[in-house]
Amino acid sequence: MAAVDRNIVLIGFMGTGKSSVGKTLARKLGRSFVDVDMWIETSQKRKIKDIFETDGEAYFRTLEKEAIRIISRQTGSVITTGGGVVLDAENRRLLKETGVVIALLAKPETIYERVKNSQHRPLLQGADRLSEIQSLLESRKGFYQEADLFFETDGKTSAEVAENIMGALETQKNS
Ligand code: S3P
Repeated sequence: MAAVDRNIVLIGFMGTGKSSVGKTLARKLGRSFVDVDMWIETSQKRKIKDIFETDGEAYFRTLEKEAIRIISRQTGSVITTGGGVVLDAENRRLLKETGVVIALLAKPETIYERVKNSQHRPLLQGADRLSEIQSLLESRKGFYQEADLFFETDGKTSAEVAENIMGALETQKNS
């Protein structure tokens, strides 16, 4: 598959900036943008939070898996994913097969600062959000490490992260 046809897929924990970086990246590169969670919300006509509350996480994961099957048929798009997309082996395989997979990283403390007031993240609603972040991050770390490229986002704006990604993709293209 030609480099330009490959999707650019952003993975990473909640609060690592996938959606804002992805939007910026798509705009700067003139590519179409698909956010998997937004796609699910549109097709289900309800919020992710409501899906978790009514039908549970396992059901959400089946919707997420179906969404990845459909969305990964696209080419040349910027695709942003929910933090748990990597839990499923087929999701990981499909995304890698059809795109360059980029992991956005951040320290648990940074993530905590970014999500502490969020009401729409069903997995982070407990009393001790920093501990929830630390243990979930620990259990998923290995999956995020399967990405092709990695970018630290601590202390950076989404525009800066997007610039860093574009620079790395350019280098990759020329090598
Ligand atoms: C989840 C992350 C969320 C959303 C859902 C589950 C996760 O997306 O898909 O709440 O398991 O980490 P963001 O990473 O965009 O917050």
